[in-house]
Amino acid sequence: MQWIINGLVREADIDFRTSLLDLLREHLELTGTKKGCNQGACGACTVLVDGERINACLALAVQYQDRSITTVEGLGHDDELHPVQQAFVEHDGFQCGYCTPGQLCSAVGMAGELKRGMPSAVTVDLVNTDIVPSHDELRERMSGNLCRCGAYNGIAAAIASTLA
Ligand code: FES
Repeated sequence: MQWIINGLVREADIDFRTSLLDLLREHLELTGTKKGCNQGACGACTVLVDGERINACLALAVQYQDRSITTVEGLGHDDELHPVQQAFVEHDGFQCGYCTPGQLCSAVGMAGELKRGMPSAVTVDLVNTDIVPSHDELRERMSGNLCRCGAYNGIAAAIASTLA
């Protein structure tokens, strides 16, 4: 079986029950994506599929063949950090760093949702959805990504700085 991950075709022989998260970590050595709860509650395993964020622990790898998968390893280019990664550095958007790969992928996916005008629970009743979300909306949109260190202020400031 094969997948397109970070722009490269990757192959692995896996059991059909293998999650996308385990494919990445256990079979392809892409260990940037983290396993936290392994049941869709923490967001540590967030990756992008065709630009949309998903929890890799809840996804069967076989369902994502021939889709474009991006992990944290694929966000930057060459020696350059992705703008969201750079913003996390500049705004102290992490403490221990375990949740950071998921936060980064989720932030990139969220930016795409904003560009497409996808409403959140906070904005759903608003007539005009602004591409730059309020602090509350940003926190709501990122609520699927938990940070046990509580570095939420830095995370929100980092993401907001990339959307301004
Ligand atoms: Fe997937 Fe927690 S490890 S959501």
